[in-house]
Amino acid sequence: LPPTIRQILSSGHDSANKVQLCGWIKSVRRQKNVTFAVISDGSCPTGLQAVLSNTLSSQLKLGLTNGASVRVSGSLVNSRGTGQAKELQVDSIDVLGECNPETYPIQKQTLSVDYLRDHAHLRARTDTNASILRLRDSLTKVMQRFYERHDFCYVHTPILTSSDCEGAGETFRVTASSAVPSHVPDLLDPSDSPSSEFFSKPAYLTVSSQLHLEALASSLSRVYTLSPCFRAERSQTSRHLAEFWMLEAEWTWTREVNDVCQLVEACLKDALVLGIGEEERRALAKGVPDYDQRLRCLEDAASSKPWVRLTYTEAILELEKYAAAAGPKASTFQFKPQWGCALQSEHERWLSEVLVKGPVFVTDYPSSLKPFYMRTNDDGKSVACFDLLVPYVGELVGGSLREERLDVLCSRMSALGMDTEGEEYKWYLDLRRFGSAPHGGFGLGFERLISWVSGVENVRECIAMPRWARRMLL
Ligand code: 4AD
Ligand code: MG
Repeated sequence: LPPTIRQILSSGHDSANKVQLCGWIKSVRRQKNVTFAVISDGSCPTGLQAVLSNTLSSQLKLGLTNGASVRVSGSLVNSRGTGQAKELQVDSIDVLGECNPETYPIQKQTLSVDYLRDHAHLRARTDTNASILRLRDSLTKVMQRFYERHDFCYVHTPILTSSDCEGAGETFRVTASSAVPSHVPDLLDPSDSPSSEFFSKPAYLTVSSQLHLEALASSLSRVYTLSPCFRAERSQTSRHLAEFWMLEAEWTWTREVNDVCQLVEACLKDALVLGIGEEERRALAKGVPDYDQRLRCLEDAASSKPWVRLTYTEAILELEKYAAAAGPKASTFQFKPQWGCALQSEHERWLSEVLVKGPVFVTDYPSSLKPFYMRTNDDGKSVACFDLLVPYVGELVGGSLREERLDVLCSRMSALGMDTEGEEYKWYLDLRRFGSAPHGGFGLGFERLISWVSGVENVRECIAMPRWARRMLL
């Protein structure tokens, strides 16, 4: 492969080296004798300034316009202008794909977030959206290195499943659109009929890989995956997508919820320190209004200081104290904080942004608020779990110890009306029947991580082609 612009700029080419590169024109500036064209191939935030003699540009059959794709060759020289260290002195240039400046949807002026969502197929051509996608790639690699270093096995879990891991009833049901073909009867199962389920039972898109990861952790000890998850989430918020990616890890021989928190903290500190380079940070800062403040917050979180842990009960007490002291002022909460009730996003944000001013693990929620698989604490009413809350985003990670005691798990499931005798959960209970191992794990919303690290407010900008209720463009 020929080098990308990032490779060319970082490899110390000198003017003796001729280079050839391809990219799209980001801007064109014509002067008396020369034309400056910034060319980007998406490999780095800056692109490369190409300098063409006007004789060369006037010979072109197709126009040098914003958005056109080009192939250029020339010498990399020290730039005499400000703003870039190197530029390309062009010997030859071909326009490979022209772009009509009148109708090109990605014009140079600032384009609104909504407009760009409507043009999701082209929005990665804007500087900010391209930076977000490179950040996403960089965070993926940092995470992979972290789990490799800790000897986790990267596994692939199914997307089609028969279970609703979280029990929240937000699953997408899957049906086969192909009709049962009547002309090839010998290929068919005799019990197949045009109306039958493809899998002979209801099938869903996965909401979380956790249950499958538990099965694999009970043989490989340490496993993780990064995979798409699907939730028929109807609320239109800046934190929810119908299709999002979750990094999930699951491992055995862990007995304290704090051990799970510690691993989450270590991997997120790696993400904060290594996930975003200086140049990319500067590029993102252009699109984020209060970036300096956010940056200070991120730097503080990345320091060696341990992140705060609060139990759910302590968190409720703090929220109640604040609400009581503030009285009926507008600054208090819309929802009253109350033990036994879920923390609302306004509570989560207050805890991380006002009380702690940084990431905070809230642990040991009442079991009534959490799914069936979490390990019951000795008090019998709370579970060994945590939510990690971070400023601006709210809940970033959810995790827990898993209930490894067969009898306790069965009674919890029965109390929730789940069938412990039937086929559906037999495999899950087998993990406790045969060599049950204490274990725990977590799930981290990847778009929320990107939103936190980049300062980009809405998760809809943190994935290339977002899907949410009533919106799936391409
Ligand atoms: O808290 P959740 O629902 O936890 C689980 O699914 C566990 N089974 C994970 C595990 O322990 N393996 O989801 C985990 C994280 C949330 O903290 C949030 O960051 C993200 O996934 N998340 C979403 N992100 C975007 N859009 C949505 N609709 C999301 N729902 C959850
Ligand atoms: Mg959660």
